[in-house]
Amino acid sequence: MNNLSGTGFHPISIGDQEFMPQQTTKTVDWKALREDFPILDQKVHGQPLLYLDNAATSQKPRAVIDALSRYYERDNANVHRGIHELSNRATAAFEAARVRAAKFLNARSADEIIFTRGTTEGINLVAAAWGTKFIKRGDKILLTEMEHHSNIVPWQLLAERTGAQLVFLPIKGDCGLLDLAQLDAFLTSDVKLLAMTHISNSLGTINPVAEYCERARRRGIATLIDAAQSAGHRPLDVQQIGCDFLAFSGHKMCGPTGIGVLYGRGEVLEETPPYQGGGEMILSVDFHQSTWKHAPHKFEAGTPDISGAIGLHAAMVYLDGIGRDRIAQHDLELGAYAFEKLAALKGIRLFGPPIGRAGLVSFLLDGIHAHDVVTVADQRGVALRGGHHCNQPLMKKLGVESTARASFYFYNTTEEIDRFVEVVREIKKFFGG
Ligand code: ALA
Repeated sequence: MNNLSGTGFHPISIGDQEFMPQQTTKTVDWKALREDFPILDQKVHGQPLLYLDNAATSQKPRAVIDALSRYYERDNANVHRGIHELSNRATAAFEAARVRAAKFLNARSADEIIFTRGTTEGINLVAAAWGTKFIKRGDKILLTEMEHHSNIVPWQLLAERTGAQLVFLPIKGDCGLLDLAQLDAFLTSDVKLLAMTHISNSLGTINPVAEYCERARRRGIATLIDAAQSAGHRPLDVQQIGCDFLAFSGHKMCGPTGIGVLYGRGEVLEETPPYQGGGEMILSVDFHQSTWKHAPHKFEAGTPDISGAIGLHAAMVYLDGIGRDRIAQHDLELGAYAFEKLAALKGIRLFGPPIGRAGLVSFLLDGIHAHDVVTVADQRGVALRGGHHCNQPLMKKLGVESTARASFYFYNTTEEIDRFVEVVREIKKFFGG
C-alpha cells in the first residue's frame, strides 16, 4: 500500500476497513474501470449491455456493494442509541460518512451535512423547514425554466401555503442556456430565494452557479443548488460556490438508492426549525413540549439509512480515487463526441448547448416518438431514457412532449457512443427515416 506514496492518492479508513482508490497513475484507464462494475458485464436481448441511463441512476462499483455487505454481515445495529459494540461500530461508520461528505463538498463542518433520502427530500426539507419560517406572502422564489420537478413542486407547495410567488429565469431556445446578463433584473427586493440546478438533466447545460450565488448573496438572497446531476461528475466546493444549501443523491454517483445529502451553511441551519419530529432529533420530550438537538441531528428524525450512508461513503472514496476533475473532463469529451456524431445525422433535433455540455445528449428523430426510439434501442441492448425526464414545464417551453436521452458516466467509452449512434441510425431506417 505504501507504493502509492507520491501519487496523490491516499487510502482512506472506513471503520476498520481500508479502501484503496482504483487509479494509481495520472492517466485513467476508463475501460479498465468497467471491471469494477459487475452489472456492466451482461447481455440484454442477446446484445452486450450498453448502459446510457446514468442521469436516472448510475451503476455501483464492487467497492460500494462490498461495503454494504460487510456492514450487514458484521456491524448492523441502530445508531446513536445503543451502548453495545455493534451500535458503537454502526454509529462510528455512520458519522464517518458524514465527515467524508463534508470533505467531499469542502463544507466547513460535518455539522453542515444532513443525510436525506436524496435530492428531492433535501429540497423538500428546505422548503418545509426553512421556507415556512422565512418565506412570507408577497415574497418571490426565483427558479429557472430548466428545473426538474424536484426543484419546482416543493416550492409550489410552499407558495400555496404562504402566498409567495414563483418566478422563472428564461432559457434561450433549444441551446438551453440561461442568460446571466438577465439575472440582475430578476433579483428584485422581494426575491428571498434563488433555487437552481447545477447541471440540467434534460439539456446537459452546466450553469456557472458560483456567479449566480454571488449576485444573489450581494442582495441578501438565500441560495439553493440542486446538484443531482453534478455531484460525482465534477469537484463540488460549497464554499467556492457560496450557496446556503446544496442537495444531491447518492444513487446518481455510484452510491446506493435511498441516501442523499443536504448541505446547509451552519448559520442558516441553526436558525432553521426541524423538518420532521420523532426519535433521534430530540434532546428531551415532555407530554406537551420537546426540545431538540443542534444541526444536523435536529433534521434527522427516526432511524436513518445507516447502510446507505456507509455505501455512499464508499462511493465518495471510490470517485475521489479516480479524481472528479478527471471524471468532469471525460464527461465533457463524451458529451461533445456524442453531440457531434448525432448532429451529423439528418432528421434529428438536438437539445442543449453544442459546446461545454455535460455528459448527456437529448434528441428527437423526425416523426419518431421518443418512446419508440427507447424501445427499439432496448431490443439492441442499449438503455436510454425517453419521456419528459421529470421536466414537463421545460418540455412545454421547448414545444415537445418528450425527448430521448443518452446519459454517460466515466465507465462509458467513445466506442460505446459509436455503437449508440449506429443504433440511432438503424432506428431511423427501421421507421423509414
Ligand atoms: N431526474 C432523473 C432523470 O433525469 C430521474 O432521469
